[in-house]
Amino acid sequence: MFDEKQIEVMIDRETLEKRIAELGAEISRDYAGKELYMICVLKGGAMFMTELSKSITVPVLWDFMVLSSYGNDLISSGEVSIKKNLDGSIDGKHVLIVEDIVDTGRTLCFLSEYLMKKGAASVKIATMLDKPSRRVVPVKVDYTGFSIEDEFVVGYGLDYAQRYRNLPYIGYVKM
Ligand code: IMP
Ligand code: MG
Repeated sequence: MFDEKQIEVMIDRETLEKRIAELGAEISRDYAGKELYMICVLKGGAMFMTELSKSITVPVLWDFMVLSSYGNDLISSGEVSIKKNLDGSIDGKHVLIVEDIVDTGRTLCFLSEYLMKKGAASVKIATMLDKPSRRVVPVKVDYTGFSIEDEFVVGYGLDYAQRYRNLPYIGYVKM
């Protein structure tokens, strides 16, 4: 655990929520006349999922998945497994994966392939943050809130050892 004094604001709440609203408007235009099946990757994607949904105007369904995550480490284990699967069928659905951050790309590479195999009509990705310099596996991200440098960030759903998810801004940790 670190002291909250070690957390510096990287993206403040107003900037973040304004950008998320823009993404919601863009998604609404792109999916005009369609129903959107939003799949949140828990737990980190939860705050982005709710904020983004508020500015989407097409009909929306919500589902949630839990995938293997970092645990308490600052680096990815490289393996992805499903801990909680979908509640509904996505056969023929237009799926939007809602993720907090794309880092190595392993999680989303695995998940988008998995969802296509489940019969989705389309699978797109919306991420609040992207760290493109960290990519190990290529992923096509359709909607990105902010691209950031390779800093470990917390807040707005993102954790360090399960803490700081509730911070209403994106902060980085001064090590
Ligand atoms: P990937 O499979 O390496 O792209 O890992 C993505 C996941 O790692 C994200 O969904 C986060 O849960 C976690 N993660 C990556 N970078 C950070 C970070 O800076 N802070 C907190 N969690 C992170
Ligand atoms: Mg995540």
